[in-house]
Amino acid sequence: MIKKCLFPAAGYGTRFLPATKAMPKEMLPVVNKPLIQYGVEEALEAGLNQIAIVTGRGKRALEDHFDISYELEHQIRNTDKERYLSGIRRLIDSCSFSYTRQIEMRGLGHAILSGRPLIGDEPFAVVLADDLCLNTEGDGVLAQMVRLYNQFRCSIVAIEEVPPEETSKYGIIAGEAIRDDIYRVSSMVEKPRPEDAPSNLAIIGRYILTPDIFELIEQTEPGKGGEIQITDALMKQAQQGCVLAYRFKGRRFDCGSAEGYIAATNFCFEHFYKAGKAF
Ligand code: G1P
Repeated sequence: MIKKCLFPAAGYGTRFLPATKAMPKEMLPVVNKPLIQYGVEEALEAGLNQIAIVTGRGKRALEDHFDISYELEHQIRNTDKERYLSGIRRLIDSCSFSYTRQIEMRGLGHAILSGRPLIGDEPFAVVLADDLCLNTEGDGVLAQMVRLYNQFRCSIVAIEEVPPEETSKYGIIAGEAIRDDIYRVSSMVEKPRPEDAPSNLAIIGRYILTPDIFELIEQTEPGKGGEIQITDALMKQAQQGCVLAYRFKGRRFDCGSAEGYIAATNFCFEHFYKAGKAF
């Protein structure tokens, strides 16, 4: 059973400066909820209630968000404003939260390795909170992936098709289709130029990883951008055993870009806020 979900959240969020100068990018609100809260909701829905967050300097707001605010709660007790906190209270009551700091920014692979003491020797999920994934038609993306993991017992990355000119923004996979929505990965490249990309199937920020990934990250040399890439460690895992790529059901918004952030805001306003389902 997978119980743990790791949130790498140490990055600077430079694409959203100046908003992220003093505030973690994971706290950017989509309508009324911070990005990381959507991610934790998705994890809990998938049955993962042990939340592990890799933070960094200037990220204290994340810890405070998943904690009680006595003064505030005292103030609004027995008023109609209490309902605004019902969602976050449910998360605090249902999940445990643990934190560690990534001391140096050496890439996503390094961030995941920094979370090893919180994960131990068990399979776990990874959520990159600035990829907001929503499925209004059924199970969330992590729940879909946990179900697949229970069947296949290997690492899984979520993928979607991107326009060929955008391959340099993502990890790109190639592989053999074993079902119309699942590929067995044979190749994986971090942010290739379109002419070097093995396909247009892009990894998005949802992973399920088996714990042997930690050793593989340790053996991984800095790659694209001089950073330790999870994509490179996963490629080794694919060569030694099996990694699956799953074309998920639902929508994904790149909230690290202004376009994606605005699209997510409009979507959540329509589907959740106006519908009275936003808390
Ligand atoms: C990271 C990964 C990349 C993946 C992307 C998904 O890149 O390195 O393989 O496609 O997340 O959002 P980042 O966006 O952090 O540069």
